[in-house]
Amino acid sequence: MQDQPLTELTLDQVAKEALAALGAAADGETLEGWHVTYLGRKGQVTQLIRRVSDLPKEERPAFGKRANEIKQALEAAYGRHAQALKVREMERSLVEGAIDVTLPGRSTAHGRLHPSTQVLRRITQISADMGFQVYRSRDVETDECNFQLLNFPRHHPARDMQDTFYTTQRDVLLRTHTSPGQIHAMREYCPEPIRVILPGMCYRYEQLTARSEIQFYQVEGLAGGYDIRFTDLKGTLTDFAQRMFGSGRKTRFRASYFPFTEPSAEMDVECILCDGRGCRVCKHTGWLEILGCGMVHPVVLQNGGYDPSVFSGYAFGMGPERSTMTRYGIEDIRYFWGNDLRFLEQF
Ligand code: DAH
Repeated sequence: MQDQPLTELTLDQVAKEALAALGAAADGETLEGWHVTYLGRKGQVTQLIRRVSDLPKEERPAFGKRANEIKQALEAAYGRHAQALKVREMERSLVEGAIDVTLPGRSTAHGRLHPSTQVLRRITQISADMGFQVYRSRDVETDECNFQLLNFPRHHPARDMQDTFYTTQRDVLLRTHTSPGQIHAMREYCPEPIRVILPGMCYRYEQLTARSEIQFYQVEGLAGGYDIRFTDLKGTLTDFAQRMFGSGRKTRFRASYFPFTEPSAEMDVECILCDGRGCRVCKHTGWLEILGCGMVHPVVLQNGGYDPSVFSGYAFGMGPERSTMTRYGIEDIRYFWGNDLRFLEQF
């Protein structure tokens, strides 16, 4: 084109070619290439316009005018085409990326707290509100703390209630209840008053059945001071039960026996499933046993370092899994540690 004589016709011809090429540009990239080819700094139209000085003086104004018209027309066509491409692109993406908002969503899997953990935390929370501190005690115990200092001498028949896992080391065992923590806590707090709960795992060498596991949680409680009576025990545990199972829930105390408390009792709460009317879960009694309790035996107080002639206390121990089973109608205690997601996901 450089060699052709320059006329307005040359301009028109280039413009015609440019328009045809523009019509064929079907995507953004081709379109930008087109702009560079024709209207860019080194583009064909731009170069033609630069050659105006080659023309005889009298032809230059008409040529210049025509060149500007063409340039503007091409820029306008370019703008329209770019806009049209954009609209087309948008429509395409709307069709291709269409979302069916009526499809049900895919839910993500959430981790959750184990039901036992949930119940333990609730017990801890209520106890904390009532002024009890959490005291952590060890899972591996000595025969001395698990039994002897709690007033179970060797060969005492009450040991039969708690079949024990012994270790290969003499007199070292897995705690069968959280009560030995009472000894550790008392020895640490003595001679100050004490109000603690001791949650933890316990172990018993038992036949696995729907009602008994070889491992289970207990939460122990201990309150000691200079004027603590059985009425404090009753009041505190009744209040606890109402916070735990709902206000207005009836409770009752039955006389019982534990070597480390005197007197000893068991507390029942009105069945939370049938409201005391009697059902399969409460064996038609209307009551559920939830804990053992009593006034700390003077020998145990002494073993904890306190003087039983001036100091007194009450203690209690409960098995939260039993309450959880009742609450949710769980029929087999083995589900708790079976790690079956179908069970765990229900909580
Ligand atoms: N340690 C008892 C058990 O495992 C439960 C218990 C009963 C704990 C009475 C106590 C208590 O502190 O006072 O069967």
